[in-house]
Amino acid sequence: MKVLNDVYVLSNGVKIPKIGFGTWQVPSGDVAYDSVMMALKNGYRHIDTAAAYQNEASVGKAIKDSGIPREEIFVTSKLQSHIKTYEGAKEAFKKTLKELDFDYLDLYLIHAPWPWNEMGKDCDKGNVEAFKAMIEAYNDGKIKAIGVSNFSPKDIDNIINNLDFVPHVNQIGYFVGHNQEVTDTYCKAKNILVEAYSPLAIGFALKNPKVIEMAKQYDKTPAQILIRYCLEKGTLPLPKSTHESRIIENTKVDFEIKKADMDILDSIKDDPRKWN
Ligand code: A2P
Repeated sequence: MKVLNDVYVLSNGVKIPKIGFGTWQVPSGDVAYDSVMMALKNGYRHIDTAAAYQNEASVGKAIKDSGIPREEIFVTSKLQSHIKTYEGAKEAFKKTLKELDFDYLDLYLIHAPWPWNEMGKDCDKGNVEAFKAMIEAYNDGKIKAIGVSNFSPKDIDNIINNLDFVPHVNQIGYFVGHNQEVTDTYCKAKNILVEAYSPLAIGFALKNPKVIEMAKQYDKTPAQILIRYCLEKGTLPLPKSTHESRIIENTKVDFEIKKADMDILDSIKDDPRKWN
């Protein structure tokens, strides 16, 4: 698929393949190893993991065992959301490299602006501390690009204003019915690439009647419409599946959604979890 060879170019010139393979909730061991291996075999060259997913070792091993040169695969990992100190971030990054068994990482993100069990907590100071450690590793050439995840414009302003560094990426939950217009517009204005995690709304968006109808019109599957939607919006989808047929299906998105149909998808504003 052509799209697997297409790239976005980050603000620092680093190229990032337009579709990434997500591994959230993919258990470590055989399932993560086999899924990543299947993704690589089927042409994906961008894998997204995180320390919190506890599958970095399996992901790293699959990448090594694939036989594909390391520099041909773009790999992202993330700093766990509760680590909000400079030293803590430095240590965590070392551990991530060790788990993956890599000597560098392509993209490293602060996983969330607050610990997941304290959502909304003001961690502005801690985020600056953590990001400072990431800038150091970036300047040392240990990471090719650095960014954030689940950050609001206000959270990103905090980084920019205190460190004079614009993150390269913001990875957010992004799907039909939840396209985070405010954050997306802010990021585009700052040349921060938006990565779309859960482009299928963890599967729920597949059941939307308008998506199903449009899939029929285009002779595509609902998943392909949802992934293509992210690309049409200039975001980078991170679909995930543990089934090879779906891993392949999710790459067959070399088509265009017409403007009028994008407007229909954009007009869907309700939480996809209500559609089932
Ligand atoms: P499975 O791993 O059993 O294939 P998201 O990427 O939005 O988080 O969605 C992931 C969920 O969607 C997983 O439960 C995955 O299940 C399912 N999924 C992934 N690709 C497809 C597809 N092409 N068709 C149907 N379900 C899919």
